[in-house]
Amino acid sequence: MNFREFTTGSVDYQRELALREAVMRAPLGLSLRNEDLSAEKDQLHFGLFEADGTLVASVIAAPLADGQVKIRQMAVASSRQRRGLETRIMGELEKTLVARGFHRFVLHARVAVVGFYRKLGYVAVGGEFIEVTIPHVRMEKTVTAKIRGFNAKLKVLPLGWDAEVGRPSTPLRAGKLKALR
Ligand SMILES: CC(C)(COP(=O)(O)OP(=O)(O)OC[C@H]1O[C@@H](n2cnc3c(N)ncnc32)[C@H](O)[C@@H]1OP(=O)(O)O)[C@@H](O)C(=O)NCCC(=O)NCCS
Repeated sequence: MNFREFTTGSVDYQRELALREAVMRAPLGLSLRNEDLSAEKDQLHFGLFEADGTLVASVIAAPLADGQVKIRQMAVASSRQRRGLETRIMGELEKTLVARGFHRFVLHARVAVVGFYRKLGYVAVGGEFIEVTIPHVRMEKTVTAKIRGFNAKLKVLPLGWDAEVGRPSTPLRAGKLKALR
């Protein structure tokens, strides 16, 4: 299985549209043909592909201001669901986006799968609202980049900077940092 990015001008994008139509719109009696997709050319498109080029999972990342990005249109082929593919594509996506400087991820989760995104670290924000005819919940996640050369467990420390004494306000626990080779 291979994770890669593609653009809206590619054959892969046509595959993405077919997958989204099949798993996200047809079951609701809707069609992407009735939607304005023109903004998608400025968004980032990713897929998980089998060796023969079959697209089995796809996701779109729409950059927002200030390091935020909206994750949208998460779809896994019906015949491949419940095998960890969404977990895998979201993990690859997160790594890729963090490397590009994004740190705040937002998404609109269908209520049926809120528990799943919660397991991936997303937190529900606000109440339910209707989108594409079904209830959704906004969810958010902040991802801290690993400090180069370290497996930075720092991200779980409430670390501040004490300007008066010129050192971290929470003592750095050296044992929490593990050098990566
Ligand atoms: C939701 C979706 C992306 C999950 O993909 P997946 O590859 O099956 O997910 P994973 O195998 O990585 O994770 C499985 C977990 O997702 C959740 N999940 C998956 N499909 C679900 C469904 N139809 N209803 C409720 N929970 C579901 C469960 O928590 C499941 O864990 P479990 O199998 O231990 O119960 C996929 O089912 C899909 O494309 N659904 C249709 C479109 C959609 O709903 N997209 C999400 C929009 S927010």
